[in-house]
Amino acid sequence: MEELKKSTVFEGPEGPVVLVIMDGVGIGKNPESDYVKIASTPNLDWLRENAVYTEVKAHGKAVGLPDDGDMGNSEVGHNAIGCGRVFSQGAALVGDAIKSGSMFDGAVWKELVANAVEKDSALHFIGLFSDGNVHSNLNHLEAMLKKAKEEGVKKARIHALIDGRDVPPTSALEYVDRFDAFLAEVNDGTVDYCIASGGGRMNITMDRYDADWSMVERGWNAHLKAEGRTFASMREAIETFRAEKPGILDQDLPAFVIERDGAPVGPIIDGDSVIFFNFRGDRSLEITKAFEADELTEFDRGPKPDVIYAGMMQYDGDLDVPKKYLVSPPAIDRTMSEYLSASGVKQFAVSETQKYGHVTYFFNGNNSGKFETETWKEIPSDVCPFEDAPRMKADEITEEVVAAIKSGEYKFIRLNYPNGDMVGHTGVVSAVRVAVEAVDEGVGKIMEALKEANGIMVCSADHGNSDDMCELDKKTFELKLDDEGKCKPKTAHSLNPVPAIVFDPSGVSNARKADVEDAGIANLAATCITLLGYEPPADYTPSLVTVG
Ligand code: 3PG
Ligand code: CO
Repeated sequence: MEELKKSTVFEGPEGPVVLVIMDGVGIGKNPESDYVKIASTPNLDWLRENAVYTEVKAHGKAVGLPDDGDMGNSEVGHNAIGCGRVFSQGAALVGDAIKSGSMFDGAVWKELVANAVEKDSALHFIGLFSDGNVHSNLNHLEAMLKKAKEEGVKKARIHALIDGRDVPPTSALEYVDRFDAFLAEVNDGTVDYCIASGGGRMNITMDRYDADWSMVERGWNAHLKAEGRTFASMREAIETFRAEKPGILDQDLPAFVIERDGAPVGPIIDGDSVIFFNFRGDRSLEITKAFEADELTEFDRGPKPDVIYAGMMQYDGDLDVPKKYLVSPPAIDRTMSEYLSASGVKQFAVSETQKYGHVTYFFNGNNSGKFETETWKEIPSDVCPFEDAPRMKADEITEEVVAAIKSGEYKFIRLNYPNGDMVGHTGVVSAVRVAVEAVDEGVGKIMEALKEANGIMVCSADHGNSDDMCELDKKTFELKLDDEGKCKPKTAHSLNPVPAIVFDPSGVSNARKADVEDAGIANLAATCITLLGYEPPADYTPSLVTVG
């Protein structure tokens, strides 16, 4: 890896460049739905008026998603920010591999299918049961099931992780109905394909960054041991849970197991084939470890199951996880961290558990390895509903950053404040307000520390969320109201742009807004490199500011 060229017009500030990623803090379109606007944010307000301020895209094609109707998310957002370019991402790559047939021509698909056909065993699919296109897409599942039938797989079992976090909060039955109709067509008497188990995605299976392995254990027990409440159908499970706990969100629903004739219809057993059909890695790594590790200490798994397991995609390029996968991931190379490391720039990255991997592993192109000049710091997240503690660890993150600025050790510091996103996903607007205010306070303290240290702040977000807490009409952005005239809560990310702010209190960079067409968050990498006093790589999308 070659070093970055030093800039001839600006040698960089005396203090560090600090990149603040305010997760889920975008610029809303309707003031009644925009809890970034509703919250009191004196620091962000000041910056909007007085710093170099640009609005940049954080969704759709600007971050490598198939369509401009796709909201942004933290994986593609941090990938784009960290690698300075736009790569076609998992959602697009899997869609293409299915369309072209390359997925089904691959050795892994063939092995999974041959195993099920030869042993007359089941082909299982575990994954997020929606079309959110953040972790998975139901279209992909349906395409794989059709192909499996064509290729002679007699028995398929689906373990459905209920979403309500990347799609409307209580939309599960829409997906159940759609899928039941699909299955009714597929099950023409020649095959037996059905849902076998499931539960809410924030309750089972999809934990991330080792935050709460008990989620994986509950999922494991439902998918493999058929432990959980039993029902005749997924619809019955959801309706029962909702009746018992009115107001429960889909993402929090308990585990369920489907029974037929008094027996569980499809626990995963030795000899079966298993596909984890999420393409995004963060919430796939733990369940993958549970399937692949010879010894597992995180919970009482029992013996390693004798199955053929594959992920939809490679989830970690450094660790080569999983061992088998259906589609190759985006070939993200030459990230900003790697360039800065090659140039001897000391870097510090910090967040709390829930977003720690975002600002490290996603930021470095879905690689969990550290470059030589990097130091990473994880602050343990609370294990509780985030609406109950909406400040999360913002204060602790700020303290770490301020200490890192004062230490004079690092030239580039990056951090992620999770609040706007994690609390945004709960749909509890009173908590969202507190969450955004905690982030604003943190930004204010970082600004003070940078004034003293003569450093520069770049402040932006990976995508929107808190800026869009109610369902809006897609064209007019008016609130959509329910039968009682109330706004319909929204838990998913938004399609909104995000701020990109450059705050240089000493004025040493003389940063001015550059004329960049169609700016997106990928432009932030070159912006940071420019402010550090280097020339960005020629193929990075350009800096949002001109200096010198
Ligand atoms: C999640 O995994 O929590 C959501 O699906 C996406 O949120 P993130 O992209 O902000 O992590
Ligand atoms: Co989110």
